[in-house]
Amino acid sequence: MNRISQRRHWERIYEGSEEEKLGWYEAMPKPSLDLINTIGTNKNGRLLIAGAGTSRLADCLLEQGFNDIIATDISSQALCLLKKRLGEKARGKVTFVVDDLLRPKLLPGFAPVQFWQDRAVLHFFVDEEDRQAYFDLLREMLAPGGHALLAAFNLQGAKMCSGLPVMNYNAEMLSKSLGPEFELISSFDFTHHTPSGEPRPYVYGVWRREG
Ligand SMILES: C[S@@+](CC[C@H](N)C(=O)[O-])C[C@H]1O[C@@H](n2cnc3c(N)ncnc32)[C@H](O)[C@@H]1O
Repeated sequence: MNRISQRRHWERIYEGSEEEKLGWYEAMPKPSLDLINTIGTNKNGRLLIAGAGTSRLADCLLEQGFNDIIATDISSQALCLLKKRLGEKARGKVTFVVDDLLRPKLLPGFAPVQFWQDRAVLHFFVDEEDRQAYFDLLREMLAPGGHALLAAFNLQGAKMCSGLPVMNYNAEMLSKSLGPEFELISSFDFTHHTPSGEPRPYVYGVWRREG
C-alpha cells in the first residue's frame, strides 16, 4: 500500500467507525500512564503522542498537569475528533499535527521532545525502509535524557490489525531498533481486550536516551 492509500485507509477508519468499537480502544490507557508516572516524567516537558488517533491519553495527561503535548497522526479526521473531544482544556496545551511519521514534513519543527509515546503504531511499519524512517525520526526528535515509550503487538500477538499486516516485537527487538544509546528502564507484556473481547497481547517498554 502506498503512502496515499495508507492515509486514506486511516481516514476511512475514523470516518466510518465509532471510537468505542475500534479494536485498540482503551477507556483508560493505564499501561502507558503507569510507565509515564513510574519514571517521573516532567509535566512541563514536551511529550509527543505518535499516531495518537483518538486515544484518551491526552485527556489523562492534561488532568495530571502536562501542558506541552503534541498529538500527531496521519489522519486529519482522527485529530479532528480528538480536538473536538478535548475542547477548551486543550487550548495552549495540546498541538495537533497532521503528518506522516514515515515522511514527516512538520514534525521535525517540534523537536526536541522529552517524551515519545507510541502505542499500536510502530507495528504497522513492516518494511525495513519504513522502520528505519520511523526510528530516524524518533532519534532526530527525542532530546538526550528523554524517554521513549513503545507498545507493539508482542511475539504471541496478532499478525494483522485493521486489515493490515503487522510486525511483532519483544523488548530486545525494540531495544535493538532504538540503538545503543537507549537504556531499557522497564518492560512488560500486557493483554489488551478489544471491545468484542478478543485478547491482543502487547509488549510495553520505556527507554531512556543517554546520548
Ligand atoms: C491502531 S491505531 C492506535 C491509535 C492510538 N495510538 C491508540 O493507542 O489508541 C494506529 C494509529 O496510527 C496512525 N498511523 C498509521 N500510520 C501512520 C503514519 N505513517 N504516521 C502517523 N500516524 C499513523 C493511524 O491513523 C492510527 O490513528
